[in-house]
Amino acid sequence: MSQNPEPASENPPAFSGESVAVEQPPARPVALIGASGALGFGLAIRLARAGLAVAIGSREARRGAATVERARERIPDGAFLGLDNSAAVRAADTVVLSVPFASQAGILRDLHDALRPGQLLIDTTVPLAAAAGGQADRMLGVWEGSAAQQALELVPDGVRVVSALHTVSAASLTDLAHPLEQDVLLCGDSRADKLEAARLIERIEGLRCVDCGRLESSRVTESLTALMIAVKLRYTNHAGFHLTGLPDELWL
Ligand SMILES: NC(=O)c1ccc[n+]([C@@H]2O[C@H](COP(=O)([O-])OP(=O)(O)OC[C@H]3O[C@@H](n4cnc5c(N)ncnc54)[C@H](OP(=O)(O)O)[C@@H]3O)[C@@H](O)[C@H]2O)c1
Repeated sequence: MSQNPEPASENPPAFSGESVAVEQPPARPVALIGASGALGFGLAIRLARAGLAVAIGSREARRGAATVERARERIPDGAFLGLDNSAAVRAADTVVLSVPFASQAGILRDLHDALRPGQLLIDTTVPLAAAAGGQADRMLGVWEGSAAQQALELVPDGVRVVSALHTVSAASLTDLAHPLEQDVLLCGDSRADKLEAARLIERIEGLRCVDCGRLESSRVTESLTALMIAVKLRYTNHAGFHLTGLPDELWL
């Protein structure tokens, strides 16, 4: 079936013969909540290196600003803003949450008024037993099924939640000389939301996003972090996850 062409404007502007400068609106930053920490900082510098503007959120604006200084040492021409968490969320259309599981619920409650329908929340939280004083290579049970499903219950209606990045190590992201060459496992209830998250994450060179099903599958992808920690303890901090046999184009 052929698609209808865009309807012509009823009153097209008259051609004046003069050149008109078309101003692009400034790109809205991606908000990173927890970017003073290991994973968030690695994501911040990798995304900035890819040319994206990054709003670094912190529970304390001062720590956000200090993290920007640290990030600028790594990416001098990076577009960074240091803000408190709420201001970072308000500045962005996409929010990446990378905080310890023990703080995830409290932080999402604190951000309830800043989050708005239509925003995309990419949740990286892993309910590792370490969050409750246990071993880093063991998992906690989460009543909702997974950290990502807990996030979905806590955000305002209309905020779209995708989980991702659980198997990507902060050490690899932060070492900018290290080629990533690995997969990112995405879970979410909307293919369009996952595609949007994939387009953002794949701006980081060497990351390939794989659709791993509905948000409830996040229970499985989150638990792979515990597996990756066990592998890293035995081999290298740079271990990553790579699925074989997949088609070249994963997001048709
Ligand atoms: N590290 C990895 O390689 C990795 C890989 C995959 C997934 N993850 C998951 O990603 C999330 C973040 O991991 P991470 O290693 O980056 O964590 P982290 O360094 O311990 O903490 C990240 C940030 O969370 C904020 N935060 C909020 N509440 C906190 C609290 N009670 N104690 C400490 N920090 C708190 C802090 O930022 P402010 O103080 O600025 O607010 C902190 O810098 C976790 O759920 C983790 O399981 C981590």
